[in-house]
Amino acid sequence: MTAPERPAVAVTGATGALGGRVAARLAQRGVPQLLVGRDPARLPELPGAERRGPAAYLDTADMRTALDGASTLVLVSAHPTGRRLEEHASAVEAAAAVGVQRVLYVSLLGASPTATYRNARDHWLTEQYLAGSGVRHTVLRAGFYASTPAALADDELVVRGPGGTGRVAFVTHDDLAAVIAALAAEDGTEHDSSILEVTGPEALTLAEGVQRIAEATGRPYRYVPETLEDAFAWRWRRGESGAQIEAWISWYQAIAGGELSAVTDAVSRITGSPATPMTRAGWWPEPKTAW
Ligand SMILES: NC(=O)c1ccc[n+]([C@@H]2O[C@H](COP(=O)([O-])OP(=O)(O)OC[C@H]3O[C@@H](n4cnc5c(N)ncnc54)[C@H](OP(=O)(O)O)[C@@H]3O)[C@@H](O)[C@H]2O)c1
Repeated sequence: MTAPERPAVAVTGATGALGGRVAARLAQRGVPQLLVGRDPARLPELPGAERRGPAAYLDTADMRTALDGASTLVLVSAHPTGRRLEEHASAVEAAAAVGVQRVLYVSLLGASPTATYRNARDHWLTEQYLAGSGVRHTVLRAGFYASTPAALADDELVVRGPGGTGRVAFVTHDDLAAVIAALAAEDGTEHDSSILEVTGPEALTLAEGVQRIAEATGRPYRYVPETLEDAFAWRWRRGESGAQIEAWISWYQAIAGGELSAVTDAVSRITGSPATPMTRAGWWPEPKTAW
């Protein structure tokens, strides 16, 4: 008698930093995968993984074709476009239509209709959509990425914004990917309909976090706190759109207000390894890549 084939996990966003890491970890675990992308040629080639697409979240028909054969969907949230609820709902509806049984959705810590950080609000909408969808699901609310301050630095490696002395428990992409892969690889019901908050091991001020990047890279990154007025003026002069200014300033304000300061044990509890401190994050995007 041959062993039954393991059901496939579909991973979206696998051309990106998070989805790519989830896919690599699932491949290491020998889990069959469908990697779904808008441009399949950019998807990684991994053992046991089939590249599917092109499929954008909003194109439900393409998503249905791409997800056919999966039992679990890891849904990496889309870039903020103003239509994320529709994009995520379209992907989930496509999944349900082809028999996907479970969705793991990557949300954001502090997701709420009144979250200070503007991009956390439509994550909350997606969470509400999932709760009413009837689909088995788990929400993984990620802390702010440890990599982001490096991507916000300017050419002089200065990270500036109205973050005050608020604290934030930055999480590494690798830790988040490890949690997602661990959940995706097993099909228990323990985390169904639950919200898992996935954070780094310590709540740091931005000054401390940026100092950790300087220590890790040996480069002189530093944080310069800004007033709200200076923050707006500087970004406006730089030619940012109103939506970009609002999003980034609210990112700093959410930190200033302590909305991302919770430290949870999700990484160690689910992966069995302690959460990675920022100094050991190991991956730092180039300056200005989040501008
Ligand atoms: N927790 C945080 O601090 C934080 C920070 C930044 C972003 N995020 C969220 O976390 C997500 C993953 O982070 P990341 O670092 O992996 O970002 P990333 O490297 O930019 O990857 C995003 C991935 O999502 C795919 N994608 C985006 N919109 C899509 C759509 N409408 N339809 C299909 N695929 C789509 C992208 O595909 P393409 O390659 O085709 O573009 C890419 O593969 C981001 O998309 C964002 O929603 C969280």
